[in-house]
Amino acid sequence: MRAVVANGTGGPDVLSVAEVPDAVAGPGEVLLRVHATAVNRADTLQRQGFYPPPPGASEIIGLECSGTVEALGEGTTGWQVGDQACALLAGGGYAELVAVPVGQLMPVPAPLDLTEAAALPEVAATVWSNVFMLAGLGEGESFLVHGGAGGIGTFAIQLAAARGARVLTTAGSEEKLATCRELGAEVAINYREQDWTEVVREGGGADVILDNMGAKYLGLNVAALRTGGRLVVIGMQGGVKGELNLGALLAKRGSVHATSLRARPLEEKAAICAEVVEQVWPLVAEGRVRPVVHTTMPLAEAARAHQLMEESGHIGKIVLTV
Ligand SMILES: NC(=O)c1ccc[n+]([C@@H]2O[C@H](COP(=O)([O-])OP(=O)(O)OC[C@H]3O[C@@H](n4cnc5c(N)ncnc54)[C@H](OP(=O)(O)O)[C@@H]3O)[C@@H](O)[C@H]2O)c1
Repeated sequence: MRAVVANGTGGPDVLSVAEVPDAVAGPGEVLLRVHATAVNRADTLQRQGFYPPPPGASEIIGLECSGTVEALGEGTTGWQVGDQACALLAGGGYAELVAVPVGQLMPVPAPLDLTEAAALPEVAATVWSNVFMLAGLGEGESFLVHGGAGGIGTFAIQLAAARGARVLTTAGSEEKLATCRELGAEVAINYREQDWTEVVREGGGADVILDNMGAKYLGLNVAALRTGGRLVVIGMQGGVKGELNLGALLAKRGSVHATSLRARPLEEKAAICAEVVEQVWPLVAEGRVRPVVHTTMPLAEAARAHQLMEESGHIGKIVLTV
């Protein structure tokens, strides 16, 4: 099969397309013929050598895809050859074929086509598992998501708004802020020009914060929480080591969580995907939540796609068609 391979670690130009051995479905897996995959920040980190795949996962980059079932591994039930699906992956998405644990395969939510569906698994599973399963964002609560114009942000804004939360967000340009408002953010703050902590605090603070910045925003996020607030850190774009003021957290009876999706046990990922299909796909079917796709490029242009993401030149997701 053809796949994107990395010739060592480094900048986007280490990526190229090459012939590699076909992926094979093991017991409990489904072999998917990939129609499209999408780019994630973690892919760029893996390319640079900072985020190796968990044990047993494909060495090929790619955390999500859509496609058609090509074959079933031993003991795999619930799917048939020819079915269309999208999938959450621990790796292997930038290829013509990928083996997927059956619990991570999800139907393509109507009315999306396969290209759009490739932009959903990672953001849907990340936002649902962190904002709703873990932090328990409720109707009427206030929700702050940083990086509102990114893949995670564009999805989180819509899902939280559709479930009745008041959404606040940060982004780095007027164009990005406008998109965030159009997707349902009531308050959109240009973090380059305004003190976002002050704006959030003036509005009463946030019950739940989904953070991509890590260390740089740790203290500021705690300051922006309301009493009983929950901060969930999913990214470290602003550094790994920060100082946590436990006094401030304790006074608010707040909590700080940090999670990653990729290395979780299969049962946990299957449980998350099942909830996504049950809770999120109906909102997609109703048109209340949609994938925001900045651009679609052929797989052979993976290097250009990585560069675009690293320059933050995108709004929403970057999709690669196979
Ligand atoms: N833990 C997990 O399981 C998990 C799963 C998926 C994703 N993630 C992480 O979640 C983060 C977002 O992923 P993504 O796919 O949405 O990436 P993305 O599309 O690149 O979005 C990141 C956004 O952050 C914005 N940003 C950069 N600096 C900022 C700052 N100081 N304040 C506010 N926004 C800022 C960027 O644009 P502007 O600066 O122009 O606004 C960009 O829109 C990444 O760090 C990723 O690794 C974690």
